[in-house]
Amino acid sequence: MSNDKRESIWQALENHANQMKESRLKDFFNDAERVSKYSLEFDEIYLDYSKNFLNEDVMKLLLELAQTSDLEGAISRLMSGHIVNNTENRPALHTALRQDLSSQIKLNEENIMPLIKLEKEKMFRLVEQLHQGIYKGVTGKKITDIVNLGIGGSDLGPVMAVEALQSYQQSPLKLHFVSNVDPDVISGLLQTLDPATTLFILSSKSFTTTETLANAQVAIKWLEDNLKTKDIFNHFIAVTANPEKAQEFGIKPENTLRFWEWVGGRYSIWSTIGLPLAISIGPEHFEEFLMGARKMDEHFSGTPMTTNMPVLMALIGIWYINFWQAPTLAVLPYSQRLRRFPDYLQQLDMESNGKSVSAVGKNVKYDTGPIVWGQAGTNGQHAFYQLLHQGTHFIPVDFIVAAKTHSPLADQHLQLVANCLAQAAALMQGSDEVDIKFAHEHMPGNKPSNTLLLSKLTPRALGQLLALYEHKVFVQGIIWQINSFDQPGVELGKKLANTVISSLVRGETGSKMDPSTRDLIERIRA
Ligand code: F6P
Repeated sequence: MSNDKRESIWQALENHANQMKESRLKDFFNDAERVSKYSLEFDEIYLDYSKNFLNEDVMKLLLELAQTSDLEGAISRLMSGHIVNNTENRPALHTALRQDLSSQIKLNEENIMPLIKLEKEKMFRLVEQLHQGIYKGVTGKKITDIVNLGIGGSDLGPVMAVEALQSYQQSPLKLHFVSNVDPDVISGLLQTLDPATTLFILSSKSFTTTETLANAQVAIKWLEDNLKTKDIFNHFIAVTANPEKAQEFGIKPENTLRFWEWVGGRYSIWSTIGLPLAISIGPEHFEEFLMGARKMDEHFSGTPMTTNMPVLMALIGIWYINFWQAPTLAVLPYSQRLRRFPDYLQQLDMESNGKSVSAVGKNVKYDTGPIVWGQAGTNGQHAFYQLLHQGTHFIPVDFIVAAKTHSPLADQHLQLVANCLAQAAALMQGSDEVDIKFAHEHMPGNKPSNTLLLSKLTPRALGQLLALYEHKVFVQGIIWQINSFDQPGVELGKKLANTVISSLVRGETGSKMDPSTRDLIERIRA
């Protein structure tokens, strides 16, 4: 890629942004064809990106920016198992997890598809045993409650997807999620459960995450104390890329489901980390979920950039972050079932692209990943939308809404949909000046948004939505020239937590500890 070319595109985009800041978004709709020009439908998802500060020149430049970054080459390297995570010397093969199992993806000369097939079959067998009540606890009772102990990628995907696809629940098994090391969570939950009928899923790629292991120790003690036996490991399933560590911990090999180093934690919902989801919706729907993502992968790798949904969303994001100085992205699902989607996306996007050093170790001179935030509409409308409409910050929005509902209250669903469309319109067009009596009533409008319209929140649509954002994040990482697949920034906090724990528990004050932290520790100990 030529740096000069990139510089000149960058400069041209800056000029366009400066000019466009004077324009009115609603005037862009003087072009009667605007909606059809700036919208795209693929399988379960329709993307309307017409309410954005985009014109043909800007689109052309953004697409050129993608081309100068060798995006097409990068997509093919991602999908075929090249080392895209250079700092950890690994590929990022989450897309293989949803591939047709008869295809071949080679890693170090070995076709990994049979491995994926084997673990998926093992996971589905376990799901069937649980559904049929064949899997029993040590007292011989059927399992009724399943607690996922995991954090970050070993929690956010499963907890979000189980809730999102509640309408597809296949069995009366109750699923619970404990991620926080805050003892209030696990102790509060255990009070409501029967140890004889509770199964814990210990979800941890590394099997070294302190929060998860601390909660697991509480679970072990609770089982031992209440069931009056040390033989409680039938109540544990491990899902991990480190089966040796799981065994050291006491988990039986037959109760261990594997995944691999080449699956990033925040991309792991497609692997056996998806066990809670598979238990909830059953193997058939889980396959549909994978199929949705596979279709998005095919679209991503096989569609020209001009009509490629993840590429377009990524470019729109870059346009606002780098040329409109918009550091945040509000993600507003008009679906209570997608309530946890913004949390999920926070990890996916911010852990991936929250970087300031390029993949070749240089400080970047531009902004990178957005601060992602949001919550389900309409609740957000009665909390923070005031700031979206009349605040001083420029905040692009992704609205997500499904045309149809699983609820029998179809009319009420239309109220939900209407609110979503009304908010997007209000943000874009602002108030009609004729109706304004006082300055404080003025709604400036000119706030851009995308609307992602799903036909219905099905397993296939959810799979597609997640894959869409995964690829969007990937494209942005390529254009920003950063490694989207590591997370070194999380490590320092983990190390310091261990030092602080020793100080809090044993009073050891590390010489390297800063005075503020030392003082806080002393106060807490006192
Ligand atoms: O927060 C850092 C992180 O490493 C995430 O990337 C990961 O999803 C999470 O911790 C949990 O890690 P593990 O699955 O290894 O317990």
